[in-house]
Amino acid sequence: MIVTTDALFCHAYGKYAVGAYNINNLEQTVGLLRGNLGQSKSNDEPVDNSRSAPFILQISRGARGYTDKRFLEAMIRAADTVFPEAVFAVHLDHGTEEACYDCIDSGFYSSVMIDASHEELAENIAITRRVVDRAHAVGIVVEAELGRLGGVEEDVVGTVCLTDPDQAVEFVERTGCDSLAVAIGTSHGAYKFTGKQGLHFDVLEKIQKVLPEGFPMVMHGSSSVPKEWVDRINAAGGAMPSTSGVPEDQYLPAAKLGVCKVNIDTDGRLVWCAIYRESFREKPEDFDPRTPGKVFMPAYADYIVHKNGKLGSAGQLEAARKTLA
Ligand code: G3H
Ligand code: 13P
Ligand code: ZN
Repeated sequence: MIVTTDALFCHAYGKYAVGAYNINNLEQTVGLLRGNLGQSKSNDEPVDNSRSAPFILQISRGARGYTDKRFLEAMIRAADTVFPEAVFAVHLDHGTEEACYDCIDSGFYSSVMIDASHEELAENIAITRRVVDRAHAVGIVVEAELGRLGGVEEDVVGTVCLTDPDQAVEFVERTGCDSLAVAIGTSHGAYKFTGKQGLHFDVLEKIQKVLPEGFPMVMHGSSSVPKEWVDRINAAGGAMPSTSGVPEDQYLPAAKLGVCKVNIDTDGRLVWCAIYRESFREKPEDFDPRTPGKVFMPAYADYIVHKNGKLGSAGQLEAARKTLA
């Protein structure tokens, strides 16, 4: 069932965070859906309610342009049919104004992100307000961003600028956005922290205090970049420098301070890369695209179960579903 993110955030606020996972292809989609139902090896396994979770399936502009956005949309519609127990929002990640309108008009997305965070405050507010008006007119919710993350984000290479709590109040009031992506020390991609850096919980706490009660915040750049997967990639011929991401034990403290959505893309790519490399290394004579895919889908499902455990969303599906009725 495809739902809007605000329905999910209402249930999650202050207790757990909903995982927002990027997809680009069929194998990622199947692994993601299975994992959020607590399944692993087959689509026909019974749903495991102790592990099942509501989630957000998110699509970047890069993913939409990779082949043709209609393939992704068709795949997600199919996933909704193949996995009727799943509850998820379909969300545009880091949209431009134009991409947001395209998704709003498609009648398919339940949520869009307008990312005008690289603009000056007044312009960010103006653009976001236009998108909010158009989205709300057709029942779609809007995530907006204030502050700047570091790292690579679509085609923009960012310089860090943490979210200013006072600006956040003005921004939310004037734009009417439904959730706010905040910059609190994370960055996109695999190379986040080199040493002592970490999340700025003090800034998050200040923002939570000044925003309207229960207003959902979003944390981008939240992959944990597990050493285990980087090591597996490198052991199978990769060449990733040593790196680290957001410690997974920081997800729940952030959720308690109002972070309802945690964005994870890079970690999924690491799992994909390790397994495809290992598969072809182990069977150099093989050239069947299904060989690594058959290993990847259950492994990714298991990884999603693990991640949802850290986010606190594992086991919340049935309770969240009841609030949607
Ligand atoms: O924030 C960016 C996301 O990780 C999307 O990355 O544009 O390479 O799909 P992408
Ligand atoms: P990561 O690169 O940390 O996975 O962040 C993904 C993200 O924020 C997508 O919007
Ligand atoms: Zn992001």
